[in-house]
Amino acid sequence: MSYRILLLGAPGAGKGTQSEKLAAEYELDHVTTGDALRANADMETEYGTPRSFMEAGELVPDPVVNEIVKTALSNADGFVLDGYPRTLSQAEYLSEVTDLDAVVLLDVDDAVLLDRLTGRRVCDDCGANYHVEFQPPETPGVCDDCGGELIQREDDTKETARERLEVFVENTEPVVTHFRDAGDLIEVDGEGTPEDVFERIRDAVEA
Ligand code: AP5
Repeated sequence: MSYRILLLGAPGAGKGTQSEKLAAEYELDHVTTGDALRANADMETEYGTPRSFMEAGELVPDPVVNEIVKTALSNADGFVLDGYPRTLSQAEYLSEVTDLDAVVLLDVDDAVLLDRLTGRRVCDDCGANYHVEFQPPETPGVCDDCGGELIQREDDTKETARERLEVFVENTEPVVTHFRDAGDLIEVDGEGTPEDVFERIRDAVEA
C-alpha cells in the first residue's frame, strides 16, 4: 500500500525518528524539509541563506520551502512528509500539490521536548540520530553505524530550542487546528519508547 502520510509535531516530537520507521515499514520516501534545508544551508536565495533563519530558530520563508516540497513530492509515489507544513500558507500550498491519506500529530509534553532536543546528537558523516540519555551510542561521541563524529545541531542549544518551540506555537499550532477542524487529524501519544510510539502510529494509520 503506497500511503501519503503527513507527520505533524513540535520540534523534538519524534517526527524524524518515526518517519524513518514508517518509510521502512511501507517502503515510502521520507520527505523532510529540515534535512533538505540543512543540506542546502548556504544556498543564496532572495531572502538570504536557509542557515541564517535556522540558526536563529526561525522559519525559512514559505516560497523557498514550498519549492523544495513540490519537487520532492512530484518524484515520490508514496511518502511520509515531516517538517512541513509549518504555516497556514504552506498548508494551503500542500493541498494544491497533493492529497493525503493520513495526518498524524505526535503529542509530547514541552519539558520532554526540551530534554529530547538538547540531548540529541547527530552523526556528522551519515546523519544518524542519537540521544545522550534516551538513545546513546555504544561509544560516547562515535556513530554506531559509520564511526563518524557525533555533534550537536546548531539549533539544539537550550536558547534556540526554546525559540523553536515558541515559533511552533505561534505558526504551526494553527496548522494543527486546521487539520483537526477538518476532521482529518489522528492524535497519537508521542511519549514512551520509539517502538511503542511507532506501534500506535501504525495501528492508527492502518485503521
Ligand atoms: P527540522 O529539522 O524539521 O526540525 P524540527 O521540526 O524542529 O524537528 P526536529 O528534527 O528537531 O525533531 P523531530 O520531531 O524530528 O524529532 P527527532 O525524531 O529528531 O527543522 C529545523 C529548522 O529548519 C526549523 O527550525 C526551520 O528553521 C527550518 N524549517 C524546516 N522545515 C520548514 C518549513 N516547512 N518551513 C519553514 N522553515 C522550515 O527526535 C529528537 C530527539 O529525541 C532525538 O535525539 C531522538 O533520539 C529522541 N527521541 C525521539 N523519539 C523518542 C522517544 N520516543 N523517546 C525518547 N527519545 C526520543
